[in-house]
Amino acid sequence: MQHRTALVTGASSGIGAATARVLAAQGYRVAILARREDRLRTLLAELPAPNEGHHIALVCDLTDPVALESSVRRAGEHFGSLDLLVANAGIGYRARVEDLEPTELRRLLATNVEAVLLGAKAALPWLRRGVRPNMVLVSSVVGRRGMPTMAAYAASKAAVCSIGEALRLEWAPYGIRVSLLNPGVTATEIFERQQNPAGLHDPELDRADPPERVGEAILRLDREPEPERFLRWKWRWLGALSILWPGAADRLLASREWMPPPGHGGAT
Ligand SMILES: NC(=O)c1ccc[n+]([C@@H]2O[C@H](COP(=O)([O-])OP(=O)(O)OC[C@H]3O[C@@H](n4cnc5c(N)ncnc54)[C@H](OP(=O)(O)O)[C@@H]3O)[C@@H](O)[C@H]2O)c1
Repeated sequence: MQHRTALVTGASSGIGAATARVLAAQGYRVAILARREDRLRTLLAELPAPNEGHHIALVCDLTDPVALESSVRRAGEHFGSLDLLVANAGIGYRARVEDLEPTELRRLLATNVEAVLLGAKAALPWLRRGVRPNMVLVSSVVGRRGMPTMAAYAASKAAVCSIGEALRLEWAPYGIRVSLLNPGVTATEIFERQQNPAGLHDPELDRADPPERVGEAILRLDREPEPERFLRWKWRWLGALSILWPGAADRLLASREWMPPPGHGGAT
């Protein structure tokens, strides 16, 4: 049986770990990449595999371009090619612009933007050898509509949208399909791990999507690539409204409470 091969970045938790589980359950061979080795080892042991070496764990800090290139190469050499690249790794940054800190800003951009570009560059030769090769980029609804207290994070995700749009055309001659996925609030560790210097409230997670839902969407995009997918129609409409009628989108968002003191709930 020919197994599809996938490299999933940011697979030690949240959306990436859920995606690795979804893909492995469908018979994919998965390379899981992140910094936390213990998490990767635990996940690797959980993934269904007919034999040792079916999946591979890659401990890598994506902000180190040399480590990034060699980890992607290890995945390519291990499988012989890559059929799917899921550019998922990312960090949040919850801060008003007046609270931004240059070192954290650079870390955000190195993780969420530079690593996506350099990861794509490193994966290209392996994708070109793949079968029906695809790339899925995990952006965000805030990549299509900047929101208060998220200017830096939203800018990084807007860059991911832009990279996806460029690669869709740039890689078309190679037969590589590129899909953008824009999740809304998803119940993961991203909120507790992100920089939040003013202690602004996290979004309520009781109505958030589970990460498995995003993982299933990534599987569907590998089966049927689409230029851009939102998980909910209201986010697609907000993105469109922000271009066609930005003042109306501003009024809609201004009616929400963005900066209540910590512990008072609120919307994201
Ligand atoms: N949760 C949401 O509401 C939401 C909504 C829209 C979009 N997203 C996007 O979804 C993606 C996944 O986020 P998540 O919500 O699943 O958060 P998460 O649980 O915190 O997962 C983030 C993943 O990225 C990895 N990562 C971060 N920095 C890294 C680095 N320098 N090198 C290698 N790996 C790194 C983390 O692993 P290590 O720390 O072990 O390295 C972790 O596996 C992100 O791109 C995020 O922007 C999330």
